[in-house]
Amino acid sequence: MPLNLGDVIPDFSCDSSVGQIHYYDFVGDEHWSIMCSHPSDFTPVCSTELGTLAKLLPQFERRNCKVLALSCDNAESHRKWIKDIDASGYCGKTSSTVSYPILADEERALAVKFGMLDPEEKDEKGQPLTCRAVFIVDDHKKLRATILYPATTGRNFYEILRVVDSLQLTDEYPVATPANWERGEKVCVTPSTPDEVAQVVLGDFSVVKVPSGKKYLRLSKDPGYKTPKVLKRGMVETILGTEYGAKLLPTLGRLVVAFALGGFSSSFASSKRKEKPVHTTTQTSGWKKI
Ligand code: BEZ
Repeated sequence: MPLNLGDVIPDFSCDSSVGQIHYYDFVGDEHWSIMCSHPSDFTPVCSTELGTLAKLLPQFERRNCKVLALSCDNAESHRKWIKDIDASGYCGKTSSTVSYPILADEERALAVKFGMLDPEEKDEKGQPLTCRAVFIVDDHKKLRATILYPATTGRNFYEILRVVDSLQLTDEYPVATPANWERGEKVCVTPSTPDEVAQVVLGDFSVVKVPSGKKYLRLSKDPGYKTPKVLKRGMVETILGTEYGAKLLPTLGRLVVAFALGGFSSSFASSKRKEKPVHTTTQTSGWKKI
């Protein structure tokens, strides 16, 4: 029976790359968890995914989130595969390793129970492979989000971190996060929140003017984003330690090189242009923030 959002994930025991795992004991009472299923060991896309997940493990830990993977081979096979993944370069720093458990769901019992099979992808014996499922589970063991990818598409783990950020923020405040939102960006006030409550809980917010005249698109600053604390912890260290920082690194690298060569403006501007076309936007008539 596939799980629905809001269902409590039933406890289970399973052998894994780090020995027997009892899910509830492993997660504990206060942690969120993510569980990512994989078609099988020694496959290319899965290897890049598990390495990337190892690299981003500190990001999940910062969000109080434990990580589990699942693949339909035995634990010994997982341990051999981990050696390949560690050597592949996908884990980031040379000392990084896949330290989180990979569940050994050899008989596909968990994959069937949790509805993680992909009927379109079969192994050499004709058995359906697991799809790339992501289960995001909160600290009450409730399934809060699932994302399903086909075997041929590797997951974006920054997106998974972003969803965890959104869920944790919206659990705490009467807000919802808009398209492509990332931490620190504006959020929407939830429709059920009266203006007066929003003002007290979130502070000032703006209302986007729309042709219908309805005032449903209310935007406030991210109430969970505390800039001064980030600055106090040491700005460079903190920024570079985040996934956003990791994306910034190539730009910072170019800046350093450009300064060293004395050609800052031309080198920086041209490399930026190559990366992404720059669009200028104008206010669309009728859609004006007040
Ligand atoms: C992979 O992980 O690379 C993969 C697994 C099954 C089908 C296609 C790709």
